[in-house]
Amino acid sequence: MPQNEIHDIDGQIREAAGVIRRGGVVAFPTETVYGLGASAFDEKAAARVFEIKRRPYFDPLIVHVCEKDLIGGLAASVPEAARRLTDALWPGPLTVVLPKKPVVPDIVTAGLPGVALRLPSNVTARGLIRAAGVPIAAPSANLFGSVSPTSAEHVRAQLGGAADMIIDGGECAVGIESTIISFMRERPMLLRPGGTALEDIEAVIGPVSVPESAELVNQSPGRSGTHYATSAPLVRVGGVGEIERLSRIDGVNADPSKPMAKIGLIAFSPASVPDPAALPPSVVNIEYLSASGDLREAACRLFAAMRRLDAAGVDAIAALPVPAAGLGLAINDRLGRAAFKGR
Ligand code: TXA
Ligand code: MG
Repeated sequence: MPQNEIHDIDGQIREAAGVIRRGGVVAFPTETVYGLGASAFDEKAAARVFEIKRRPYFDPLIVHVCEKDLIGGLAASVPEAARRLTDALWPGPLTVVLPKKPVVPDIVTAGLPGVALRLPSNVTARGLIRAAGVPIAAPSANLFGSVSPTSAEHVRAQLGGAADMIIDGGECAVGIESTIISFMRERPMLLRPGGTALEDIEAVIGPVSVPESAELVNQSPGRSGTHYATSAPLVRVGGVGEIERLSRIDGVNADPSKPMAKIGLIAFSPASVPDPAALPPSVVNIEYLSASGDLREAACRLFAAMRRLDAAGVDAIAALPVPAAGLGLAINDRLGRAAFKGR
């Protein structure tokens, strides 16, 4: 929905800014996913964000700003490479982790020495931050561990009335969370692939290191374990020939002695399924992420496709590979983290 067709968006922003100023919690749209925001300077309000999301306190929040210059008030230093990167790619789906100033409460950074900063391109998000007059600390507006919301409807379905207000700003244009780059070490490090392609980042600052998973959990606590979980177990398959294998996985099939009744399939594009007639009869739903094989469109549609398959009541979800370039890195990351890890 174009921004100007959304019901009284300026009125919603004004009201929400008041809620934030009074220490409340507001769900709001960004170009990536909906966020669940509170004043980054209000420890009590930030604590409520953790409570509403049922998020462990060791997993820090991203602080959202409405102008590039404002990071000077939050970061103790801004390395030259970070400056160049934000100059080139902000506003947009990019988060940078920089050494924090003491004004940023420890609850927001989960006691880490760095603060994650992001300038969203979504005009409603920026309007809200500006009107609130404070940076807004916000994780994605889902319950901890489940799929991130890309519409106000998704937020309502998961959080109900737990937030003080939900701004309805239509669907998110990028649809997958921001790419996170840490500048806490000598060399910039990728903490999370996301809506900005790594290729575009390296074109500005040169090589970025991609940590092993143990190192990653150390640098970014929220990157551990299963996330983005659908209710139906999701299994990644190398090709359509592997779909039947789902029936034999204990915990995926309730009764591995019988074939599964309903399988949902996530495929990058129709070209990923050259012969739909040859699919096992149990495949009752297919979600093509992009009809034209476009990785941006696929990233944008991923979370909604996962939700639709859950809503269709499938017993399991099979996910075919997505090309590992551009936003494909983020898509494969989310599928990997959504995947069934055994009982
Ligand atoms: O696109 C996005 O980034 C969305 C929108 C709302 O801006 N936000 C989002 O937040 O995805 P969240 O909380 O769901 O994911 C943030 C990730 C977590 O994995 C967290 O561990 C990491 O960023 N993170 C946050 N602050 C950090 C810090 N100070 N140091 C290292 N990692 C941090
Ligand atoms: Mg999240």
